[in-house]
Amino acid sequence: MTHHIVATTPIAGQKPGTSGLRKKTAVFMGRHYLENFVQSIFDVVGTTGKTFVLGGDGRYFNDRAAQVIMRMAAANGVARIIIGKGAILSTPAASHLIRLNKTDGGIIMSASHNPGGPDEDFGVKFNMSNGGPAPESVTEAMYKRTTEITSYPMFDGQDIDLDKIGRVHLGPMIIDVVDPVSDYATLMESLFDFPKIRAMFQSGFRMRMDSMCAVTGPYAIEILENRLGAAKGTVVNGTPLPDFGGMHPDPNPTWAKALMDEMFSDSGPDFGAASDGDGDRNMVVGRGIYVSPSDSLAVLAANAHLAPGYAKGLAGVARSMPTSAAADRVADALGIAKFETPTGWKFFGNLLDAGRATLCGEESFGTGSDHVREKDGLWAILLWLNILAVRRESVAEILAAHWTKYGRNYYSRHDFEAVDAGRADAMVQALRDALPSLPGREIEGLRITEADDFAYTDPVDGSVSKSQGVRIVFDGGSRIVMRLSGTGTQGATLRVYLERYAPGPEGLDHDPQDALAPIIRAAHELASIEQYTGRTAPDVVT
Ligand code: G1P
Ligand code: ZN
Repeated sequence: MTHHIVATTPIAGQKPGTSGLRKKTAVFMGRHYLENFVQSIFDVVGTTGKTFVLGGDGRYFNDRAAQVIMRMAAANGVARIIIGKGAILSTPAASHLIRLNKTDGGIIMSASHNPGGPDEDFGVKFNMSNGGPAPESVTEAMYKRTTEITSYPMFDGQDIDLDKIGRVHLGPMIIDVVDPVSDYATLMESLFDFPKIRAMFQSGFRMRMDSMCAVTGPYAIEILENRLGAAKGTVVNGTPLPDFGGMHPDPNPTWAKALMDEMFSDSGPDFGAASDGDGDRNMVVGRGIYVSPSDSLAVLAANAHLAPGYAKGLAGVARSMPTSAAADRVADALGIAKFETPTGWKFFGNLLDAGRATLCGEESFGTGSDHVREKDGLWAILLWLNILAVRRESVAEILAAHWTKYGRNYYSRHDFEAVDAGRADAMVQALRDALPSLPGREIEGLRITEADDFAYTDPVDGSVSKSQGVRIVFDGGSRIVMRLSGTGTQGATLRVYLERYAPGPEGLDHDPQDALAPIIRAAHELASIEQYTGRTAPDVVT
């Protein structure tokens, strides 16, 4: 019943990036490509007698890839697969199922916030038995294996009906088709004060949740509308579509513009939120006010104790290095630990497993806690709702009070997309070479105090990750960070992160781009961005 498919030469190595392997869908659909990567996963993590979770964000090829992965799993001796109905699982729900069922890990099919469709992106990532993304040592081993494989086994069988919940078999392997939403919704109910949030909705509180035709639709409808009693129609774009309805399922002010327009209109709802392709990112907006992800992390850290799941307080707060230091100020005030990690959720895993951090966040619209080992869009949105229900203040009032108490970290990220990869590498290299000469230099009226290439030593296992982004720090704590994206699929994406601290309560009402103007000019000058990339302005500003 199993036959071996032979490719005479090894298939070109497939290097996983910041979060798994992402490529154009057509590449994944090409001969042996998906199979090569899946077999590499299996060879590295082992298969005999093991149980894995499987699911994805519903993008084009999700259902076909699931059938292939199940046939390969059966041929490799996997004992059991737990798969979401319709091969659907949000990334945080997959992480939860891995932990809840004590499985040996899981395969998640998603290219996150990248568009989907035959001409867009697809992706595959492996999460470990703790529910978190595979660490670099494991993804490196998988990569190496992709360069060696010349054949893989495939079980001969028909497609599994994934629309029916229940147990089926593929040869000797058990397949449990489960409801993708219910266990996750129960977990959310255990963390947050649902009766209080329900009462807030009953009293007329209005919300708009934009699921961007991606995976969170069914989750948001069940939790917000069915369990919390938000008005029907609160969730828009709530049906996951293979091409996300042609949308770019990335919850930021640029791609969730319809939501932004509504929140800034006179009759806008009290609270707005959006989530990405696979449900791990979130954007929150108040009426007439945008909450930057770095500020969101800080506000959540300062108020988490208002939710039952965090009533005992937090062990620590972790943020990725390019994320603003707003959360650090809260950690200092609370007297709890703070951590600065490289970009990518996998770096939070050890801190969460060791109980040293409870909340984590990234400037890229990612927030989460130790309830799973992924960032979690709906979780962040529900924690905000819990805080709003307890404090009975508007988002604008909560932010103003926060900045007055802690000061404000003006923050923005500028992305230069699809830049020539060779030129981008040359630019970063030149900047690295210049680092030792920068401290003491004056630019745009600012004095550079420190300049380095961020290296991280994991405080739990001692592993070292080098070259994680160039940091240039100015007098007073203003900062420029530059790094190249590890998730793009076309050329290189240069990310420039800009930050300036202003103590509260004065001067808190500037537009961030105005407040950051000299720092933006300094970044262009220091890195010769135009000279290397040919660009004078970024493609996306968040
Ligand atoms: C981006 C974000 C990063 C996030 C990752 C996965 O990675 O910047 O914070 O963890 O997506 O969602 P990048 O493209 O910058 O490597
Ligand atoms: Zn995502």
